[in-house]
Amino acid sequence: MSITDELGALRDEVLSAVAVAATLNDLDAVRVAYLGKKGSLTGVLRGLGSLSAEERPAAGKIANEVRVCLEEAISAKREALASVDLARRIESEVVDVTLPGRRRMPGKQHVINEVLDEIVDTFVGLGFSIAEGPEVELDYYNFTALNHPADHPARALQDTFYVRDLSGDRAVVEGESDVLLRTHTSPVQVHVMENQKPPIYVLAPGKVYRRDVADPSHLPQFTQVEGIVIDEGITFGDLKGILEHFVKQIFGEERKVRLRPHFFPFTEPSAEVDVSCGICGGKGCRSCGGEGWLEILGCGMVDPNVFGYPGIDPERYTGFAFGVGAERVAALKYGIPDLRLFIEGDMRFLRQF
Ligand code: DAH
Repeated sequence: MSITDELGALRDEVLSAVAVAATLNDLDAVRVAYLGKKGSLTGVLRGLGSLSAEERPAAGKIANEVRVCLEEAISAKREALASVDLARRIESEVVDVTLPGRRRMPGKQHVINEVLDEIVDTFVGLGFSIAEGPEVELDYYNFTALNHPADHPARALQDTFYVRDLSGDRAVVEGESDVLLRTHTSPVQVHVMENQKPPIYVLAPGKVYRRDVADPSHLPQFTQVEGIVIDEGITFGDLKGILEHFVKQIFGEERKVRLRPHFFPFTEPSAEVDVSCGICGGKGCRSCGGEGWLEILGCGMVDPNVFGYPGIDPERYTGFAFGVGAERVAALKYGIPDLRLFIEGDMRFLRQF
């Protein structure tokens, strides 16, 4: 085959290899195979040296044309492949700027803890200190030392969760265990009186438990705040004054307070405290059941029998105590008709506070 034919055949071969190259890598392989240092065309060009002086110029010219033609074909194909590549990348990396972003809701305190903080702040502002007691409590603190003698019917007023000793060395029949989940924060009063000497101005917030089925006004677990004051010369007037201050701080200056006689085993006299209805202002409406008043807490003067257990001198000291439910305060403050809403964790409800 003459060198011209050889070059022609090589050119056709390269052009068809360039035509089928589907990627930049394929194309580069073609270039190396033909135009690289060890490439076929390079070999033919080297062979030109062995031609005679008459043949060489013409063959050299054709060889050069073939080389230029192939280089152009390769670079044209490279551009074409590069633009296909770019188009593919643009398509795969497309960002839909109209998609809504992922919203991050900032966390915040639960409304019950907020209300609890408000209550605590009110009393801390009056000089009270904070105490805590165990949620798993002895019958002695929950009942006996709060003047509920054994078999006293007042024990039945609060349905109690008893804790059974599973270790087996003390067979305990349900309802007869001396370990229970506290039904109120009042046992903290007894712990405080055991550990501190008067004057005592203490607030004890915490969880309490009752064997109740959850309904709009009952929860099996809820939050109470206990207050206890013991000092010389404390009167029922001091109690009333402090409660009025508390109600106005939490609900607003315009709200009024009313005390109704009541019974609690650990206070004498005892009272239930009502706050004037925030919706009708005391005239009576649907939300206060026509009463004009809403019950908010229990209180009274500490019964001298209660002083007897931790050994506080009832001749020298008098005191008052009160207990208020945080869920109930929150429900009254925000007009929530069903306490269960506070514990169901429905964010549509909780976010409004
Ligand atoms: N412990 C009572 C309850 O859970 C509330 C209460 C009433 C607490 C009168 C007191 C008090 O300290 O004096 O229903």
